[in-house]
Formats: sequence, C-alpha cells, structure tokens
Amino acid sequence: MARIICAGLGPGDPDLISVRSDRVIRAATQVAYFRKAGRRGQARAIVEGMLRPEAVELAMEYPVTTELPFDSPAYNGALAAFYDGWADRLAAMEGEVVVLCEGDPFFYGSFMHLYTRLRDRVDLQVIPGITGMAGCWHATGTPITWGDDVLSVLMGTLPEADLVAHMRKADALAVMKTGRNLPKVRRALESAGRLGDAWLIERGTMPGERVARLAEVDAADCPYFAIVLVHGHGRRPEVVE
Ligand SMILES: C[S@@+](CC[C@H](N)C(=O)[O-])C[C@H]1O[C@@H](n2cnc3c(N)ncnc32)[C@H](O)[C@@H]1O
Repeated sequence: MARIICAGLGPGDPDLISVRSDRVIRAATQVAYFRKAGRRGQARAIVEGMLRPEAVELAMEYPVTTELPFDSPAYNGALAAFYDGWADRLAAMEGEVVVLCEGDPFFYGSFMHLYTRLRDRVDLQVIPGITGMAGCWHATGTPITWGDDVLSVLMGTLPEADLVAHMRKADALAVMKTGRNLPKVRRALESAGRLGDAWLIERGTMPGERVARLAEVDAADCPYFAIVLVHGHGRRPEVVE
C-alpha cells in the first residue's frame, strides 16, 4: 500500500515550515506538488535546496487554471479527471510519497481533492502548516482580531452581493483568491463601507512581499498570491476570566 504524507509548507518563507514537515521533506525520495503548466510552482519554490538530489519529482500540472470560468462544467470536468488520474497514480506508487502544499493543506488547499479520493485507499497523513493569511497579517504588523471580534474568511470568487453581505457583518476580514477578482473585491468593500480600512498583502513572507492600503493600489494588477485584510478593533474590551 502506498504511503502518502502531505506536508503543509506555511505561507512562503521556508523558515516558517514546521519541524515535522521539514524532517519529512528532507528525507523524501518521492515528492509531488501542484503547479500551473509551464511554471515552477510555489510549493516547489518554497522547498528549494531542501530535497535530496536523488529525490524523484512528480509535477502535477493543472489542466486548466484561468482559461475557463471556474464554475463551468468544462472546468469542473477537467479538474475532476485530473484529480482522479493523480489519485490513481499516487495510490499505485511503491513506498512513501510526500505531497507538498502551501499554507495548511486543509485550508482551501488543492490537496483536499486528493485527500477525499485517497483517504480510504492508502496510508495517508497530513501535516498542518501556518496559513497564508496568518503570514499576511503578521506582514502588516497589526493584530487581526481582539476580544469578541468575528473574523470572516471570504473567497474573492464569491458573487459581489455575497461579499458585501459578509463584509457588512464581520469585524475583521480576510479575502483570499483576490488576483483577477480584486476589482470586484474592492467594489464590495466600498459598498460595505470598509475600503478605507482594507490592506492588500501580496506574496506575504515571500521574496517581493508588498503591503499597501487597498485604496491606493491599481486593482487591475494583482498577483495570485495576494490577500485583502481588514483588521478588527475589538468588539469590547477583552474580559480576563
Ligand atoms: C488555494 S488557496 C490556498 C491556501 C493555503 N492552503 C493556505 O493555507 O493559505 C490560494 C490563495 O491563498 C492566498 N495565499 C496563500 N498564501 C499567501 C501568501 N503567502 N501571500 C498572499 N496570499 C496568499 C491567496 O489569496 C491565494 O489566492
């Protein structure tokens, strides 16, 4: 039976990889990671210099990323076939395979699509990681939540009206998958009266990290690794019990 270990890598800075993931990655003889076709892949970039020279690398290249609408049957069909194919291939492998995953694998990670297909078929372990959004709020140098603050984590792919409704209700916000959705996210924040407090963090903890007030950036030019944050201010003074 194959043994699969998914190693959470944290937000980008290799120093933020857990001790357990570090140990597993350095010992791995077979390493798999997702990437966009033709790119090096962020997960692979994070572990640069850590892999054994003889480690066999399996690049799992997405068949589509932004070419098709993400809610179209064609997009969903292509990705389902891709995950089915890789699940079968990994399940048939001999020995241990370490799958790399940015941030935490169970937090909006692509690995979950393999996890659901493999959990009853192979020996499967998942190592937690620091999420990208935690790396991003540390990059701002300001706490994200205090006291009874409610933090909402939103996907930039949500319809604009849903974004506005959640943005009005929550104290603190983290909006992921901004990229091409940033103009919509920005309009939603404006409608909810939160734009003035919003920050854009690009490539948090990675080389080229950028922290800026969202109102002051060009929303048409946003990388995939970018998160919008609105910090909470504390619904009430913290009660020490
Ligand atoms: C598919 S989700 C993966 C989340 C990941 N599993 C985690 O725990 O953070 C990808 C999105 O996470 C966000 N993201 C993850 N790491 C980031 C970082 N270091 N800086 C900025 N955004 C990041 C971006 O919004 C990106 O579009």
